[in-house]
Formats: sequence, structure tokens, C-alpha cells
Amino acid sequence: MTALLAIDGLTLTLGSSGRRLLSDVSLAIGPGERVGLIGESGSGKSLTAIAAMGLLPPAISASGSILLGGRQVIGTPDHQLAALRGTVAAFVFQEPLTALDPLLRIGRQVAEPLQRRARRDGEPLAGHALDRQVVALLEQVALPYPEQIATSYPHEISGGQRQRVAIAMALACRPQLLIADEPTTALDVTTQAEILTLLDSLVRERNMALLFISHDLPVVAKVVDRLVVLQQGVAVEAGPVARVFSAPEHDYTRALVAAAHAFDRALEGTA
Ligand SMILES: Nc1ncnc2c1ncn2[C@@H]1O[C@H](COP(=O)(O)OP(=O)(O)O)[C@@H](O)[C@H]1O
Ligand SMILES: [Mg+2]
Repeated sequence: MTALLAIDGLTLTLGSSGRRLLSDVSLAIGPGERVGLIGESGSGKSLTAIAAMGLLPPAISASGSILLGGRQVIGTPDHQLAALRGTVAAFVFQEPLTALDPLLRIGRQVAEPLQRRARRDGEPLAGHALDRQVVALLEQVALPYPEQIATSYPHEISGGQRQRVAIAMALACRPQLLIADEPTTALDVTTQAEILTLLDSLVRERNMALLFISHDLPVVAKVVDRLVVLQQGVAVEAGPVARVFSAPEHDYTRALVAAAHAFDRALEGTA
């Protein structure tokens, strides 16, 4: 089985200072696999994801290997990687506003990746057919009144609705791998649970692979099969969720698991 994403010995260094941001990280995701990347803030989770998409800022240099859809990302010019983005992998960010243009109606923004996909597939899409697909996609992410949402501006809908729109845009290109970087962190707890359920069912229905990034172990454990634990740029532990929970090998993972159990007990105590 060819991995959709195969990161091997990835080391990231900050140019000016020579500071190591990531050290020898390896991680592979096959078709339909769901993998969680977990670690405290600043541990290098987002950089790992950004590097995988070939979106590192010029100040950060990379060594090792990143194969995305079988193509080497490190050292490949941006225009050659653009075709892989959306097709092989698409991104959902923590703060949906970063993915949305404040000055464009939602419908226009969702239409853009749909048209890109249609051109890619040699079936250009416009007019009413495009409008229908925009609404259908908004329905798939369970947005109420999709026609109304399509004519709204980002500030006119809620944070949870904006994240659903961002997910719809990522799905528009029918990627084989969805990379979700703390997709629920900016949302309130109830909305967080709804978005998590939505992502989980969308990924399963479409047999998409998922790289789910979070600092929150209980959240990740709900949607993935396998975990990679990052601490200060080093992958200190990797394995199936059940094993990591029942027998964590690294001190840092043990602390994360203990905190998750303590949280559960606190919830039970207040129930
Ligand atoms: N563009 C950048 N320039 C310099 N340092 C960065 C940049 N992006 C991230 N870093 C540093 O790299 C480390 C890892 O960051 P990040 O991957 O964003 O962490 P996480 O997503 O786990 O919270 C942090 O110490 C952060 O300050
Ligand atoms: Mg991050």
C-alpha cells in the first residue's frame, strides 16, 4: 500500500538562529487511515502539517523526506506542488476566518474550489449547475438554510458555521487526505462536539484519510485509530490509540493520559 503522506526523518531548522524546530520526525498515513498528531502548544504540530503541504516559510529549512501522493515535497517548486494540494490533501485550520475572505459571499468562496475540481476533471462548471453544487456541498456539512448561508458574508454567520464552510471548501476538491489542524479549538464545547461528529462521519463516508492535529488527547482519541505524540519537536511515542491509552511508554504521554483520565473523573463527579 502506497502511503498518501510519508514523512521520514523530517528536521526543520530556523534559518537565522539555526534553532531546531522539529527533529527527525517520521509519520505515514495510508488511504483511509486516521492518525492523530498530539502535543502541547509549540511542539511543532502545525509546522509538521505545513511542511507536508509544502507551505513552509522561506526562513525555515527542511531536511529528510516528505512524500505527498508519492511526490517529494522538499525542494520541489511551489507551482509543481499546487496540483497536489486539494487533490491529494486539503487543509482545515484552527481559525476558520483565516480560510475565508471577509469581503466575499460564502457561495462565491465555496464555488472556487468546486470550479477548480471541475476543471481538473475536465468538466467545467458554471451558472445554475455550479450554484446547485455549492448548496449541495453546504448541505453535506449540515448547514441549515444553505441557500441563505451561500448569500451571507463570513461575519454574518457563527464560528461553528464558518468552520463547516471551511470543511466544505476542503472537501470540494475531493482530497484523499484531510489535514485538520485544531479544527475545533476556537469553538465552544457544544459546537466542538458537533464539528467533531461531522468530521468523523464525513471522513468515514468518503473513506478519506485524516491527519487530526490537537493539543487535546480526549478529542483526538475520538476520531483517530493511531497517535503520534510530539514533544518539543520530537516524536516521543506512536501507536494505536487503545495501546497509547492503556500502556503509554513515554513520561510525557503518561502525563497526557493521566490528565485525560483526571478530566473524565472530574466530569463524572459533577454529573
Ligand atoms: N514561521 C515561523 N518562524 C519561526 N518560528 C516558528 C514559525 N512557525 C512556528 N515557529 C516555532 O516553531 C515551534 C513549533 O510551532 P508550531 O508547529 O506552530 O507548534 P504547535 O502547532 O504544536 O503549537 C514553536 O516554537 C514556534 O514558535
Ligand atoms: Mg498549531
